[in-house]
Amino acid sequence: MLDCIENGLFAKSTIKPLSNVFGLEDEIKRTKAYLRAGEWFLVSGLRRTGKTTLIRSVAASLDEHRVMYVNTWKIHPDQAKLEKFIEIMGEQLQVAATKFIDRVNITDFKLLGMTVKFEKKKKIFDQLFDQLLEDRPLIWIIDEVQDFFKDPRLFRYLAALHDLHAPRLTVVLLGSVVAMRKILRITASHPLYGRISDEFLLTPFNEMKSRQFLKQGFEQCNISIPEEVITEAALQLGGFAGWLSLFGRLAVIEKEMLSSGGVEGFKQILQRLEKEARHQIIDEIARMLHDKRKAGIYLKILRKVAEEPSVTLAELSKSIEKKPTTLLNYLSYLQAHGIIKKMERHYLIADPLTRRVLRHPNVEQEIKKKI
Ligand SMILES: Nc1ncnc2c1ncn2[C@@H]1O[C@H](COP(=O)(O)OP(=O)(O)OP(=O)(O)O)[C@@H](O)[C@H]1O
Ligand SMILES: [Mg+2]
Repeated sequence: MLDCIENGLFAKSTIKPLSNVFGLEDEIKRTKAYLRAGEWFLVSGLRRTGKTTLIRSVAASLDEHRVMYVNTWKIHPDQAKLEKFIEIMGEQLQVAATKFIDRVNITDFKLLGMTVKFEKKKKIFDQLFDQLLEDRPLIWIIDEVQDFFKDPRLFRYLAALHDLHAPRLTVVLLGSVVAMRKILRITASHPLYGRISDEFLLTPFNEMKSRQFLKQGFEQCNISIPEEVITEAALQLGGFAGWLSLFGRLAVIEKEMLSSGGVEGFKQILQRLEKEARHQIIDEIARMLHDKRKAGIYLKILRKVAEEPSVTLAELSKSIEKKPTTLLNYLSYLQAHGIIKKMERHYLIADPLTRRVLRHPNVEQEIKKKI
């Protein structure tokens, strides 16, 4: 049983055997081919749709490549600047290059850890990349890049790296936004835009796939789950791989609750899931609004959209007392970050768990405290 939640569909890890990366067969095939060919590409999509899992798992399956992974989520969004990026990159290159330090100029190597000028560092990085790439091709996964859109210098720098080192160096950019390529095209990040071959947009599973995901996951764990629980979970978790696998893990740990308790047991697990998800969701919304002077208006919009399953622009305008044209700016920001979506003339919260959290009393205060 433990093995199924350590390595199976319900495992928490973002590096899984490809047989346990569910429902993304086409994406696996295509990203693998791109990585082998040294093409640079983007992976976008809502939170918890499996972006990191897809790319880390595919990269890990290629044994001729070296893989470097950097998650920029750790960087405070105010510090999301080229300088900070270079610092992290230096640390990673240093670790990677230590393995064959005999081939690297020691003085240069030491300089990396010091505060030398960026121009100097850039030269050292290029030499290090040369050394690393001579040894093996390198896949560099840069996760959560959306905060860096404010500093197009990073994308210009990556464009320069592309021209020097592709295809031995492959860079994959991952972002929790709806369409990263469009953002690169319309910002000053144009130089990189032209060097990107493709964008993979991951979306939540449909109901049938969600059911299959859960069924296969529980089968791996040798647990039989009442059909009505599968139906209920598939409906209430909105097809997000992250929630489905968290639900699976919780359910496996509390299996008695489900097999005997049926839908009642399911509700209890859902409550636990919501408790675990709550902090995560609050942090994510706070981060998304951290530099917004009028965060309160965004929060009012979110609450209204969460409370009324599908609300129109006119209704929002009336309830928030802002002109529809003004509201559209706020809404398009929330849409780009995938927290709300528009279906014909109506707005709704994309993720049912986020919707539940946003309906709690006091949630606005909690988010504001974190901004
Ligand atoms: N296709 C999949 N098959 C099996 N497990 C998956 C799949 N996609 C995601 N998971 C699981 O769901 C969780 C969330 O996935 P992941 O972190 O890759 O999503 P993400 O899109 O990168 O999310 P975020 O935007 O928050 O970074 C992980 O625990 C992962 O193991
Ligand atoms: Mg991710």
